[in-house]
Amino acid sequence: MGMSSLTAVILAAGLGKRMKSALPKVMHPIAGRPLLHYAVRAAFDAGVERAVVVSNGRTEIRDSLSHAFGDRVVTVVQDPPRGTGDAARVGLEQVDSERVLILCGDTPLVRAEELSELVRALDAPGADELSVMTCKLAEPAGYGRILRDAFGLVSEIREERDLQSLEEHAISEVNAGMYAGKTEVLRRALAQISPNNAQGEYYLTDVIALVARTSRVTAVLGPGEALVGVNDRSQLAKAEAHLFERIRVRHARNGVTVRGAPFIDEEVEIGEDARIEDGVILRGQTRLGARTIVDVGCVVTNSLIGADALLKPYTVVTSSCVGDRAELGPFAHLRPESEVEADAHIGNFVETKKTRVRRGAKANHLAYLGDADIGERANVGAGTIFCNYDGFNKHKTVIGADAFIGSDSQLVAPVVVGRGAYVATGTTVTSDVPEDALAIGRIKQINKEGYAPKLKARFAALKAAVARGEKR
Ligand code: UD1
Ligand code: CA
Repeated sequence: MGMSSLTAVILAAGLGKRMKSALPKVMHPIAGRPLLHYAVRAAFDAGVERAVVVSNGRTEIRDSLSHAFGDRVVTVVQDPPRGTGDAARVGLEQVDSERVLILCGDTPLVRAEELSELVRALDAPGADELSVMTCKLAEPAGYGRILRDAFGLVSEIREERDLQSLEEHAISEVNAGMYAGKTEVLRRALAQISPNNAQGEYYLTDVIALVARTSRVTAVLGPGEALVGVNDRSQLAKAEAHLFERIRVRHARNGVTVRGAPFIDEEVEIGEDARIEDGVILRGQTRLGARTIVDVGCVVTNSLIGADALLKPYTVVTSSCVGDRAELGPFAHLRPESEVEADAHIGNFVETKKTRVRRGAKANHLAYLGDADIGERANVGAGTIFCNYDGFNKHKTVIGADAFIGSDSQLVAPVVVGRGAYVATGTTVTSDVPEDALAIGRIKQINKEGYAPKLKARFAALKAAVARGEKR
């Protein structure tokens, strides 16, 4: 039987009390995606056709799933949450395939390979009713333990709080919370379970003993580190660290030089021969072109960076686009909707916002460029401010191609500087500058010959008088 007749049921309706959070546990982000998305992704990668997610009815869960996976995911509501067994029963109502894969929504490190093995175990002779994923942990506390009979066959799963002896506590083989089985067999078993346990809940794990009575339950031993469940934030942090390491290895194998331990979110794409240095954070849906270098400490969020670009240390780029061979930083700040085109340079302590910096344009030092369009090859000098906000509205500054804006100028928007124009240093530009014109607006300098020593003597006398307490 192929995977095509397989549906996944993913349990995500629990209260997640141990997270101590207003956000549902399964919506907590881990490497840039909600926790829940990982199990769903792994199920699809393993070949399931549809996934039924059992949730608590919060619309954010449904919306994020349909946004990420479309209509291959159906959500059903379990209200109130009466335990994993009750959740599985609710989920199975939506299943019409002969076989089903049941997963917990809080095991983000699980991969398609483990799930495929779990499903394949059903094809073993005499074992086509139920298989369960287990792993051996040095610290099994908190997990359900796998109990085996005299023949070594799985007979029961017992939850931590229902363990009856020190020997049971010491069992290191635990339930990873993933099951594959015949839909009908599971439905029948789930109809028989009761909440007679320490937590007063319907336990999905109770179906194991029921099925084991009449047929064999196959245990598939998987890698412990890939099957951890996230119940609190310390486990979330550990799982995320593991995921980040896995992502670094993936990029390194794809031809990216990854130095130190940058944090790269799950969905980030990086071209060949790119280099990512230590302390870098690449978040969300970020894409980097081939050979681009992201130096120490840069933070890039939801942005597109071209090929051969250079992000010097501590550059921050958010929801922006950067062209091929562009150079940014060190300490540049591209705020949302900045577009720095090919070969453009944005230097240290330059901030842009909603600004297009066209091909080859440069602003190399200390500037604020907000709500602007800067023409090709234009040069914006040090200390230039685009005064885009009058306290009520935002206004646009347009600089033509090849224009030159001298240092320490202010451009009071809305204003247009024509192509090829020249704005002299220290000018406050309040009206449009025609093409090829020179704009100069500053107070004329006067020099008083021989006056400096007199001025200095006066200041020195004043300082002495203050020291004597005669003046203040
Ligand atoms: C569960 C297993 C345990 C296993 C561990 C693996 C049971 C009874 N226990 O314990 O044997 O070792 O997972 O990580 O199954 N959920 C619902 N509705 C509910 C309750 C829970 O949908 O009413 C969902 C949760 O959102 C969660 C999943 O089921 O995604 C597991 O629930 P959780 O409370 O985390 O179970 P554990 O105590 O971790
Ligand atoms: Ca759990």
